Amino acid sequence: MKVMAICAGRHGGNGEALAKEALCAVREAGGEVELINLFDYNILPCTGCEGCTMQMGKVGAGLQKEYRGCVLKDKDDADAIINEMHTCDGIIFAVPTYDLTPSSVYTRLAQRFLAYELSFLLAIGAVDRNPHTVAGLIAVGGSMHDWQTLALESMQATMFTMSLTVVDRYMATRDGRPGNTFVWGDQLPRARKMGENIVKAIRTPVEERTWLGDPHDGVCPNCHSSLVYPGDAHWDGIEFPWECAVCGAGGDLVTDEATGRPVLKIAENGLIRDRNDDRARAEHLNEINKTRDEFFAKLPEVKDEIDRYKSMQFPTLEIKR
Ligand SMILES: Cc1cc2nc3c(=O)[nH]c(=O)nc-3n(C[C@H](O)[C@H](O)[C@H](O)COP(=O)(O)O)c2cc1C
Repeated sequence: MKVMAICAGRHGGNGEALAKEALCAVREAGGEVELINLFDYNILPCTGCEGCTMQMGKVGAGLQKEYRGCVLKDKDDADAIINEMHTCDGIIFAVPTYDLTPSSVYTRLAQRFLAYELSFLLAIGAVDRNPHTVAGLIAVGGSMHDWQTLALESMQATMFTMSLTVVDRYMATRDGRPGNTFVWGDQLPRARKMGENIVKAIRTPVEERTWLGDPHDGVCPNCHSSLVYPGDAHWDGIEFPWECAVCGAGGDLVTDEATGRPVLKIAENGLIRDRNDDRARAEHLNEINKTRDEFFAKLPEVKDEIDRYKSMQFPTLEIKR
């Protein structure tokens, strides 16, 4: 059992302390542990070249033999971090909340995972095994939930491409200055509990694993996110009255009799777009490929317009170096 904690906060900060406490629980249970702080690594932003999904499409269609991965593979530390993550049974993320959302140090790494998307690589035969790695998420902010509204959900939204199954999530609140977490008596024990939950999940057969966090956390019973929105038509016409913004579960918004709080009542077919499911994500690759194929079919019609906009010039900001 190997568990890695990935911290995106300050050295000596609150997230790091919480991550360490969670790892202590894993180590005491006999697990191998490691901790990295993303500030110590060079992680370039995804260039948006789509080289990875273009290759996946070509390999899937038999037009390219081998999948070569990300164009930045040898240019920074992301490939080494991702390969190390792939050796783990569990990952714990401790990420500070900046502007309601996870800090960019974290999202920079997360958005490099498209080139490593397991369901896509399984679908095209570039990898042959799903390691079923589990994850625990800790968002750390200076405020309460009202100023961290997108923190855990935005982290959850990056889990699908990372092919990680979230079994617990925790929002640490009112942690402004480094060490603030030690003022509150409940935060380190909650982080420890997360470590214990990660161990429990790893020791449970994959098909029997369940949510181990607060059972009443969130509005979506599928992924426990707090964010649902009135649904719109998907690319293929599928539509739900309400949809979970994170996992894509669809259904109706009702009042939970047990808690009196709003909850998403999942429709009979409400999990067909469940992004936790490899098949639903592989279906998303079909969507990407279809949009691309349709674009290339129409390209001759719009080529002149594309060129006209490309050559349009505007004043810009020059930086003297
Ligand atoms: C640029 C910036 C933006 C921030 N925005 C928020 C915010 O929107 N909500 C919040 O609760 N805390 C916010 N904070 C506070 C940090 O989340 C808080 O200091 C946290 O403890 C940082 O984690 P660390 O101690 O692990 O570094 C912000 C801090 C910075 C530097």
